[in-house]
Amino acid sequence: MELPQLEDLPDPSGRNVLVRADYNVPLVDGRITDDLRIRATLPTLTWLLDHGAARVTVCTHLGRPKGKADPRYDLAPVRARLGELLAGAGADAARVTLADNLRFDPGEEANDPAFVDRLVEGQDLYVDDAFGAAHRAHASIVGPPQHLPSAAGRVLAREVEVLSSLLEAPARPFVAVLGGSKVSDKLGLLESLAERVDTLVVGGGMCFTFLAARGHRTGASLLEPDQVDACRRLLASGKTVLLPTDLTVLAPGGTFGPGNPPTGEVRQVGADVPDGWSGLDIGPGTAAEFADAIEAAATVLWNGPMGVFEDERFAAGTRTVAEAVAATRGFSVVGGGDSASALAAFGLAGRVDHLSTGGGASLELLEHGDLPGLAALRAAAARQRA
Ligand code: 3PG
Ligand code: MG
Repeated sequence: MELPQLEDLPDPSGRNVLVRADYNVPLVDGRITDDLRIRATLPTLTWLLDHGAARVTVCTHLGRPKGKADPRYDLAPVRARLGELLAGAGADAARVTLADNLRFDPGEEANDPAFVDRLVEGQDLYVDDAFGAAHRAHASIVGPPQHLPSAAGRVLAREVEVLSSLLEAPARPFVAVLGGSKVSDKLGLLESLAERVDTLVVGGGMCFTFLAARGHRTGASLLEPDQVDACRRLLASGKTVLLPTDLTVLAPGGTFGPGNPPTGEVRQVGADVPDGWSGLDIGPGTAAEFADAIEAAATVLWNGPMGVFEDERFAAGTRTVAEAVAATRGFSVVGGGDSASALAAFGLAGRVDHLSTGGGASLELLEHGDLPGLAALRAAAARQRA
C-alpha cells in the first residue's frame, strides 16, 4: 500500500507541523506502565526537528472521556514522559508542544469540520503517526489531510508495511495464533485469516466456543452459544485449525481476576471441562503443541492471550506461546493490546520482529486490508499530485 512518506512532504524548514500520535498509553494511578507508543514516535519527531520544523504540535487522545475535560485523562504524565524521551534523544524539546486530549472536545469523535478547522489553524503540514487510532474516522485522523500536505510518520508507515506484507506475500508456513475472550470480536478476522494462513491456532476464552462446535463439554467456561455455528463452519473449511487438547480449569466457586483472591482447586483436564468448572488456560500438552507449530512457522502472527495470564495459576499457556513466538526463526508479528502486555510482562517485548502499537487497528487492517486513516492519507497524496 502506497502511503505518502515524510520525504514526500514540502520542505518542513521553518514550518509548523501538526502530528497526530496515539499516546493512549496504559496508566495506573497516573503512572505510565508502558511507554512503547510514546517512544515509537521519536524517529518521526526528531526527523521533523532535524529538518528544521519551526514548531511541532503533537495531538493525541487518551482514554474515552466522552467529549468533556476529565482529570483522569489529563495528559500531564504523557507530556512529562515525552519531554524526557525527547531530551534523552538529544532533540530540541522546546519546539514540541503536546496539545490537550483531543477527546475532551466532542468534535473529535464526531469528526466535526469546525473542530478540524481549529486543529489545522496555523499549521502548514500534517503527519499522521497514530497507527493505533487509524481505524477511527475521527476529526484529527481524517480531517487534516483534507486541508494540509500530509504524510505518514514512521510508526504508521512501518506498521502498514509489516501488516500488509502478511496479507500480500507471507513466507510459508504462515501460522496465526489467536486468543482473547470473545469469538464474536474476532470472527471477521478469523474468517479472513483462515483464507490466508496455513494453520490457525485457537486458545484463550474463545477456544471454548470452538471446542463446543467440536462436541466437547465446556462446563462453566466462557461460551458464546450464538457463535457455535460460525465456529463449526470455520472448522469445516478444510484449514488446519489447532484447538486445545488439554486445559487448566478452576473448581466451581473458585475466584480469580483483578481484586479477587486466588482461591479454589486448579486441575488439568483433557478437552472436556467438567460441569461447573471453568477453563482458564490451555494445558501444558496443548501449550507444547502450539509452541511446536509456532517454532516450525516461517511467519507467525499472534494476537490474544491463551488464558487469564494476569493470574499466575493461569499464565503458563500464554508464557509458553510468548516464548515460542520470541524463539521462532520465522518472522514474528504480535498484535497490540493484551498480547503486547503479556510479552512485556514476560520480558520478551524486544524479542519479536514486530510488536504492533495498535490493537484494534492491527486487527481491522488484517481483516479489511485498509483503514480510514490510511485512505485519508492516500486521498491527500492524490490531491497533492494533481
Ligand atoms: C487503542 O488504544 O486501541 C487506540 O488508541 C484506540 O482507542 P479507542 O479504542 O478508544 O478508539
Ligand atoms: Mg481499543
